[in-house]
Amino acid sequence: MIFGIKTIDDFDVKGKTVLLRCDLNQPVDKETDTLKDTTRIQASVPTIREFADKGAKVVVMAHQGSDIEYKNFWTTRPHAKVLTELLGREVKFIEDVCGPEAQKAIRSLKDGEILLLDNVRFVSEEQTLFEKKLKLTPQEQADTLVVRKLAPLADLYVCDAFAAAHRAQPTLCGFEYVLPSAMGRLFEKEYDVISGIMAEPERPCVFVLGGAKIGDAFQMMDSVLSRGIANHVLTGGLAGNIMLAAQGKAIGAGSMAFIEKSNNAEYIETAKELNAKYGDKIMVPADVAYVAEGARKEAKIGEVPEEITALDIGKETIAAYQKTIREAKTVFVNGPMGVFEEDLTEAGTKAVWEALADTPAFTVVGGGDSITATKKYKKQDDISYICTGGGSLIRFLSGEELPVVAALRYAAEEK
Ligand code: 3PG
Repeated sequence: MIFGIKTIDDFDVKGKTVLLRCDLNQPVDKETDTLKDTTRIQASVPTIREFADKGAKVVVMAHQGSDIEYKNFWTTRPHAKVLTELLGREVKFIEDVCGPEAQKAIRSLKDGEILLLDNVRFVSEEQTLFEKKLKLTPQEQADTLVVRKLAPLADLYVCDAFAAAHRAQPTLCGFEYVLPSAMGRLFEKEYDVISGIMAEPERPCVFVLGGAKIGDAFQMMDSVLSRGIANHVLTGGLAGNIMLAAQGKAIGAGSMAFIEKSNNAEYIETAKELNAKYGDKIMVPADVAYVAEGARKEAKIGEVPEEITALDIGKETIAAYQKTIREAKTVFVNGPMGVFEEDLTEAGTKAVWEALADTPAFTVVGGGDSITATKKYKKQDDISYICTGGGSLIRFLSGEELPVVAALRYAAEEK
């Protein structure tokens, strides 16, 4: 047992049926029914392999995409193919989550065999909208369809989905109330590394916050600054634009419209409070880049043309952020500095990743876009630790106990 949670070492799994919740969520190419990246699948392989090698009947559960954005909402069939290749042994797939077909497939598994169920979010109670609307208690999670149908078929529940540990959904937080439960090897590693760095970060400790998913980021900023964990927070992407807007700086009508359209206007007030409390520690862009007449243009804050949309940080900001990262001893990064997928607006993200690669600091990168940027700039070997979690990393850093951690700890308690 580590961190009050049981591990795989606490159980003899030979001949046992193990329900293993992984996070295999990846960007999908629906045209070709393939995955555009396999980072999280690769990270999940050691635990799956260990169970199969130990002679367990392995039932893998995973989600693909979110119900809120239908872009990557898809079956997990391509994941079974990737797993089969990575493991070098067959991973069966069943087009069902917890209905009669899935139950039959689980019952017919032999020792050492692996079965991947279809996208668990095809079951409505597993969707994020459902989670947010109904806010089920842990005991209610255990009373959901998916848990009631699958738990009786299993001997053990294992959660290896650190990247989804901030979600209070039945396949993540329900089984712990009815089955012996443990965390998997990936979960254990992520928890260990991140909590270790957080406990005593070498200073200066810098947080780089960018990207477009910013709700949790603002909460995390408040937390790491109030607890004295972060010495500096560097803001870019949407977070940077919102910090600037909160300071009453003009960032262009297009940038303001995007903040409104993406339902993030409420964070301007939060940013005002953060500026008032920790203004000296939060770095905001001194200049921004935008695209006009097919070319990259830059403008200093205070001289930003009225209609533009800021899509990257400018040269002055790049220099300041690179300097801060190079002088740091610990750096956490969540989110790119701008639209790095486009040539004209990638300079800020590219420069930050260059600084991450050559700083002597311990660097931690998390989240889908950040992992994509790491690969795009070929910095995988230069980043100290790449976390599979984005939202979960941020929630972890904000000091909140993650719902999955709470459920796994409950399962480990003497009853
Ligand atoms: C992620 O992509 O961050 C995890 O897989 C969790 O996905 P979610 O944000 O859709 O719950």
